[in-house]
Amino acid sequence: MSLRLQLFGMITLVLLGTLIVGALLTYRHALDKIDTEMQAAIAVGSRIAHNAVDDVEEVVNPRRRLELLAADFDGDRHLRAILLEPGGAIPAVSKLAPPETPAPDWLLKLLARDPLTATVPLPSIFSNYGAIRLETDSRNEISEVWQDVQLYFAILGIFCLSSFLVTLTILARGLAPLRRLTAAFEVIGSESEVPAVPEGPQELRAVTTGFNRMVARLKETEAKNRALRVQLDTVQEEERGELARNLHDEVSPLLFCIGVDARALERVGESHQLTDAVDQARAIQQAVKSLKANVKSLLGNLRPTGQHALGLHGAVDDLVAFWTQRHPELTVDIDIPQTSFGPRIDAALQAIIGESVSNAMKHAKPHHLKIKIATAGRTMRLEVSDDGGGFRKVRSIDGGYGILGMKERAQNLAGSLTVAELPGGGGVTVRASIPLVQPSPAELDAAAEAIAS
Ligand SMILES: Nc1ncnc2c1ncn2[C@@H]1O[C@H](COP(=O)(O)OP(=O)(O)OP(=O)(O)O)[C@@H](O)[C@H]1O
Ligand SMILES: [Mg+2]
Repeated sequence: MSLRLQLFGMITLVLLGTLIVGALLTYRHALDKIDTEMQAAIAVGSRIAHNAVDDVEEVVNPRRRLELLAADFDGDRHLRAILLEPGGAIPAVSKLAPPETPAPDWLLKLLARDPLTATVPLPSIFSNYGAIRLETDSRNEISEVWQDVQLYFAILGIFCLSSFLVTLTILARGLAPLRRLTAAFEVIGSESEVPAVPEGPQELRAVTTGFNRMVARLKETEAKNRALRVQLDTVQEEERGELARNLHDEVSPLLFCIGVDARALERVGESHQLTDAVDQARAIQQAVKSLKANVKSLLGNLRPTGQHALGLHGAVDDLVAFWTQRHPELTVDIDIPQTSFGPRIDAALQAIIGESVSNAMKHAKPHHLKIKIATAGRTMRLEVSDDGGGFRKVRSIDGGYGILGMKERAQNLAGSLTVAELPGGGGVTVRASIPLVQPSPAELDAAAEAIAS
């Protein structure tokens, strides 16, 4: 769950809890308030009624006085005065003031209390005419509670809404750098990688600074690795060059001498008509010739120039011609720029394409091949795909040295290579990605020094 959702969930829970506890407390408080108000009302009402008829001298018509006394309570908010005749009849009841904002029925039911009653103590002169009974009615008090509850909920609603809005704003502003930081994490290792700007809350700024430090370290390590690979590659190349030179300088002259001597022997044999010796001398010359050819091919292998007279494009054209001559049914799409990527990259590409095509022809029966090279930013991407049915017969690409070699070539140039089967066993695609910016000699020296230290 996202941080934002979690926070909203927590706030909603806290607000709901507050609401429930608030409602319970309000209920308890409302009951107490109604009880207190009703008790006060009936006490005050009894006293007022009693005081009103206290002066017996003034009473001319007791029955009428009682009616007036009941009518005095018309419009009272909490009390109803009932005139009770000695026989039990009720000739007059005062009218309660109607509530300003009537409470809903459910609240009336929830807060309903038994009415309190009190009979007003009257002088004896009234005893033959009836009595006044006071009775409480809590409807007006409940309507007051209802008004309070509405106000309480309005304030709570405003508080909830503003809490949500404030949280939303703080989160949106606070988390914005986090989103940019996430985007920066996603492009780690890509060419478009730029340091994230430390911004937003203090905690996030510290994370961003740490992130930038980590990226810088990664870059440093990557540069060292690249330098190491290049060094390794250079050392290998130097060793092979040394071997090729030795082979060429020491073996080739000897072979030449053997050839010359064998030719001389042949001539001597011919002049003395030594047929066997002539045959032997010619056999030696033949052996020397094939040895020379072998040495030459060995030299070619040890010192691959990687350069074709017509560049990488020409080399690929030659390769394709080689295979299409032997497999006339084969069609090949070539989408390769005419430009060179530099001798090292060109040589690697040539070798990778050669092995990919040879694998396809050796291990599958493709009718169509695609060879594509494209550059995206500072990266060169090669794709060689065939429609030969994939690995379905062997289910494995382990065991040979071709794929291993292709991967090493890409890695030596700080790149990577994958061999994947197309979905449904349609064929195999070899994908290589090689950075076009290779370390400069100065960078290499610096990295070599750092490695050595
Ligand atoms: N295009 C392809 N189609 C089908 N299978 C393939 C393809 N490319 C590679 N393979 C499978 O992957 C295996 C490994 O290939 P790899 O080039 O490493 O070795 P190899 O070709 O068998 O031998 P080597 O290249 O060392 O002479 C192959 O044996 C083959 O089974
Ligand atoms: Mg192979």
